[in-house]
Amino acid sequence: MQPVIIGTAGAGYAARLHGNGYRNVSGIPFRLKTVCDLNTELAEKVRKDFGYESITDDYDSMLADPEINVIDIVTPPFLHIPMAVKALRAGKHVICEKPLTGYFGRYGDDFGIESVTADVGTTTKSLNDYEHRHISARPEDVEDYAAVTVTFADGTKCLTIASDTVLGGTKNYIEVYANDTALTCNITPTDILNTYFLDEDGLEDVYISEMLPSKLGWNKAFVSDEIIRGYANELKDFLEAAAYDREAVSGFDVAYETTTICFQHARLIFLNN
Ligand SMILES: NC(=O)c1ccc[n+]([C@@H]2O[C@H](COP(=O)([O-])OP(=O)(O)OC[C@H]3O[C@@H](n4cnc5c(N)ncnc54)[C@H](O)[C@@H]3O)[C@@H](O)[C@H]2O)c1
Repeated sequence: MQPVIIGTAGAGYAARLHGNGYRNVSGIPFRLKTVCDLNTELAEKVRKDFGYESITDDYDSMLADPEINVIDIVTPPFLHIPMAVKALRAGKHVICEKPLTGYFGRYGDDFGIESVTADVGTTTKSLNDYEHRHISARPEDVEDYAAVTVTFADGTKCLTIASDTVLGGTKNYIEVYANDTALTCNITPTDILNTYFLDEDGLEDVYISEMLPSKLGWNKAFVSDEIIRGYANELKDFLEAAAYDREAVSGFDVAYETTTICFQHARLIFLNN
């Protein structure tokens, strides 16, 4: 078994999801060595909260550390590919928080999709300044809503609804209706614990759910978020893969397939428009 020594790029929200995930990994000895962020205050906070040994604001210097053999990338998506390629070239294992990248196949690639109809939009554009007060981001041209029907070559239909602006906790589900089967999968169950608070006294450090503007009234609390959302198992698998030099369950093939399907949808929507 090889030692697993981790350097994390990015110290924002997802770095904390990973930090909590690492806390729940057992059976594989590992060290959280360096956390790297351009914002050293954030890096220092993550170092303190999750027990990293050092911080840096220089990704290249983290890569140059010969002791570090796993790079965990939790920076914004446009940096994922350049950072992953650099880390791989430096001989490191790479964990990359989704999305890996945009579509990287070739024009005309066939993924068995016959057609796509879609309605996409930027619903937050209709908000006035007051209504916009809880949303800090002001993206220029990024959709925050989509309803997409994909028809596969065999006539199977898939309806995908996605929105960035759903409050009250993450909601991810898949329902499959086939000729002899119905499957419903609640990927992020947010109804394990319901809370009701009249004020927020003593709750300053209590995490209830992401994107929750207030903890008052009824709320659905995330319980063992890092386990239910899969981070602990995912990270354990990655660390085992690095320690025993085997392919990760969520490895490159899954990343490639997921990315190509997603961006095939996007390409067809673009062509249909
Ligand atoms: N927020 C979520 O709930 C969530 C959940 C799952 C996955 N993700 C994914 O995780 C990734 C990060 O998202 P986030 O919410 O943590 O974003 P974030 O903005 O909170 O954190 C990203 C951090 O990366 C740092 N950074 C930017 N450029 C850098 C560079 N060159 N070197 C070092 N650090 C740099 C930023 O300073 C920032 O602190 C995204 O790909 C996102 O899709 C986010």
